[in-house]
Amino acid sequence: MAALPAIDTLTLEDAQAEHARLVAEITHHRALYYQKDAPEISDADYDALEKRLTVLEARFPDLAGAHSPTATVGAAPAAGFGKVKHKVPMLSLGNAFEDGDVADFVASVRRFLVLDDGAPLEFVAEPKIDGLSLSIRYENGQLVQAATRGDGAEGEDVTANVRTIDDIPNTLRGKAPAVLEVRGEVYMRREDFLALNKAQTEKGEKVFANPRNAAAGSLRQLDASITAGRPLRFFAYTWGELSEPLGATQSESRQRLAELGFTISEPSRQCRTADELLEYYRDIGAQRATLPFDIDGVVYKVDRLDLQERLGFRTRTPRWATAHKYPAEQAQTILRAISIQVGRTGALTPVAELEPITVGGVVVSRATLHNEDEIRRKDVRVGDTVIVQRAGDVIPQIVTSIAALRPADAQPFVFPTHCPACGSLAVRSTAEKADVAAETAAVEGAAGGEEAPPTETATEAEAEPDGVVRRCTGGLICPAQAVERLIHFTSRLAFDIEGLGIERMRLFFSQGRIREPADIFTLEKREAERIDRIVTMTGFGKKSVEKLFAAIEARRTIGLDRLIYALGIRQVGEATAKLLARHYLTVEHWRDAMIKAAEERAAQPAERKPELVGEAYAELCAIEQIGVGVADDMMAFFREEHNRAVLDRLLAQITVETYERPSTTGSPVVGKTVVFTGTLETMGRSEAKAKAESLGAKVAGSVSAKTDYVVVGADAGSKATKARELGLTILTEQEWVDLIGGKTTTPE
Ligand code: IVH
Repeated sequence: MAALPAIDTLTLEDAQAEHARLVAEITHHRALYYQKDAPEISDADYDALEKRLTVLEARFPDLAGAHSPTATVGAAPAAGFGKVKHKVPMLSLGNAFEDGDVADFVASVRRFLVLDDGAPLEFVAEPKIDGLSLSIRYENGQLVQAATRGDGAEGEDVTANVRTIDDIPNTLRGKAPAVLEVRGEVYMRREDFLALNKAQTEKGEKVFANPRNAAAGSLRQLDASITAGRPLRFFAYTWGELSEPLGATQSESRQRLAELGFTISEPSRQCRTADELLEYYRDIGAQRATLPFDIDGVVYKVDRLDLQERLGFRTRTPRWATAHKYPAEQAQTILRAISIQVGRTGALTPVAELEPITVGGVVVSRATLHNEDEIRRKDVRVGDTVIVQRAGDVIPQIVTSIAALRPADAQPFVFPTHCPACGSLAVRSTAEKADVAAETAAVEGAAGGEEAPPTETATEAEAEPDGVVRRCTGGLICPAQAVERLIHFTSRLAFDIEGLGIERMRLFFSQGRIREPADIFTLEKREAERIDRIVTMTGFGKKSVEKLFAAIEARRTIGLDRLIYALGIRQVGEATAKLLARHYLTVEHWRDAMIKAAEERAAQPAERKPELVGEAYAELCAIEQIGVGVADDMMAFFREEHNRAVLDRLLAQITVETYERPSTTGSPVVGKTVVFTGTLETMGRSEAKAKAESLGAKVAGSVSAKTDYVVVGADAGSKATKARELGLTILTEQEWVDLIGGKTTTPE
């Protein structure tokens, strides 16, 4: 640091200026350190700044105040913000990219609701604002709390900051529901963003890459007075907890939000068909550049709230709404090299190493090339000039290479036949499913620099076609697979350990400090005496190591669904992990059942029907949506002695919470196993299943002695016969509807 004037030589005026400078600088570095995990200065330099501020305030006590960083030193440093658990989860939206996806969305809504072709169905279409989502809680008309989305279940408490935003009323107008959580998007208008950046440049402070980053950076300030000086705005578009409905439809509710004092996202439109939705999409697309704020698409929502309720939610997205994105932004750059990344299940993914290029405000230096066939199909060669594209949170991709600009000596890429990490043979497999998509998510982290939020495609939604993936056969001896499993283990939807990102995990792994999940939880005990050694060997800084230990401690208690997901078993993504947790409830029950099922499976020929393999295995396969493929991947994991030992060593370190079913107070079918068979009249099979599950019932695909209810529709076949043979309770569709009559619940 350049020599600074000694504090005891400063006049009051100099001291005020110096105080403002230090506060701004400390706040800035805290944000980098605590929120982005990307400090720009060493801990020692940071400490020097704090020290100087403390000395300054000691000498000029009037400068110290509640907002000063010295007042918050040591207070909840690990997070910076308090945490808020969302009463109703903050979910994301499914995506449509092409016209056909919109038609599919409309068709899927109609199918789910079993609507006749002529039956009317209305949608509200509105812009998709490119900002960050916020939930604001009002009690008796007064703003009491505001929180960011966080991981959807828990966000950051930004109440003080939100109170400074002009668009957000502290007191609602007129008669408001006793409890109302208003949700919407915090954003910055384009002209305000440009003016802010100009002012920041003049002050020699950080400029923002785009309005979204500026809005996020301004809201997530530990000092609310900084937020107050930033031109933030808010659009309301939905709600969380609510003591009474705002209306019978989305459009009525929007109107009501406007009456209560909010700005609602406009221009919006009522639409009835896929064609009308597409017309809206095109109209807004044409106005996009002249709208005063950035949008990244439009959102379509089923208008009637009773239909929204029937449609309900998938794991993370509503069935009643979807986002329709505008095309990806593209740029041209040079492909410098193709590297091969080995995923946690051994999949070899080619990654394009690019001459860094800005695409839509984000620097991209890596992009996925998906697989061997894709490189061949697109004839991409090292040295080529390529078109790169990125859309929203999706991993950057190579669209094409420009043949005319190819260097004369560019050679076709030869895909390795052996794993670059362990040298084992890499073979092309036949049955590839969800885990390939999940592994691609790791490329995202590597490619984007910052860890982008996981997308739906990064979980179980998307599958690569069969047979295109080359896989390392090294299994447990492959260090790349081992480290990728650990990276997955700590990722956002799994143990979500702050400060243990991809690079740090690689480092700890290569140093032998963490070799399996249990090691994460014994790290502090093993290293506490020698923190200084970690500090010198990793270059992290003492504070940063202590912060990491605190983050690990905070995750010693974990939900069963997260634990199952974290193990990284092939095909077991977020949704499957939830299904398993919901079925087995406790970790002991789940673990024992899996071991038993694996033993049963191993003792029987592969082609034997699940029911005949054994009780535990049959129970697993009978969980709707699990299927034999997933069950067998699960069995492959549990059959391996090493995996059981790894799991048990982990379980000795952590506490796994019993899975909490969604609130089902008063539900008559909670914990019951139901089988639907035959054609139902009042609802489709998907709706029947979703409804039963939302009431805490388990829906099974086949009838067994453990089935509580068999709901029999028209033309029921062998399942009904078997139910009668077993003497089970058989219900008509009407009897089932009467049984659950009028019971609703909050979505999971
Ligand atoms: S409705 C159940 N409406 O987009 C989720 N979201 O990609 C209901 N967003 O998390 C969300 N504009 O942050 C909705 N008009 C709009 C929106 C909007 C922007 C954001 C929101 C959401 C994300 C999903």
